[in-house]
Amino acid sequence: MSRASLDKDPTEVKGMFDEVAERYDLTNDILTFGQVRIWRAASRSALGVSPGDRVLDLAAGTGTSSADLADRGIDVVACDFSTGMMSVGKSRRPDLAFVAGDATRLPFADASFDAVTISYGLRNVVDHGSALAEMLRVVRPGGRLVVSEFSTPTWAPWRATYNFFLGQVLPRVAKLSSSNNPAYGYLSESIKDWPDQEGLAADIRAAGWRNVQHRNLAGGIVAIHRARRPEGESA
Ligand SMILES: C[S@@+](CC[C@H](N)C(=O)[O-])C[C@H]1O[C@@H](n2cnc3c(N)ncnc32)[C@H](O)[C@@H]1O
Repeated sequence: MSRASLDKDPTEVKGMFDEVAERYDLTNDILTFGQVRIWRAASRSALGVSPGDRVLDLAAGTGTSSADLADRGIDVVACDFSTGMMSVGKSRRPDLAFVAGDATRLPFADASFDAVTISYGLRNVVDHGSALAEMLRVVRPGGRLVVSEFSTPTWAPWRATYNFFLGQVLPRVAKLSSSNNPAYGYLSESIKDWPDQEGLAADIRAAGWRNVQHRNLAGGIVAIHRARRPEGESA
């Protein structure tokens, strides 16, 4: 069993997700007390896409969010670099289009999607600024970005409770449900190390996105950032 460190070496990150793949979605449901399903619905509505739109679900893992979009008539491409996560996804949903690819070097043409979304993935990418720039490149001018990620609770007592959960409860619960307990030590550490809502908004803007807004869920445990690629500019 292995885990990545906070320098997020791509080989380590890939290996870690390959190992947790089989029980990944079950563990998500357990660790979030089922809230992840509500958070996924909020991301989907932030995306504001319609049937027939072409959407890139980046770092899609087992394709749970992609399946949700495909079921609503969206032409979705699920892209990830963990073959383990994608093969679990393919076995569950053979109809989904999975494409192997690295978020920092996307295997797609410029302006080839109407929108791009990344759920709980950006925090794991070795250079999230490059991934944000790549997402800008592959989305058409005027197209939308939605990033769902763990963030920082805004109310201090809630933040303290959450930090206790991350440090003490999550690793113990993960031990019971996951095939790779050390990976969930990485989960806690990477969440604590991640920019807060304003910090991520600044990173998104720095990559060239505009109209950056965010919405907190569960008091800021999760934040959904959305942005648009400017019209009439090349990425
Ligand atoms: C926590 S999982 C999220 C999976 C899925 N988006 C979801 O909502 O359940 C993070 C995913 O990011 C992927 N990932 C991390 N770095 C990546 C990169 N550079 N390129 C592509 N995928 C990456 C991992 O392989 C993993 O499947």
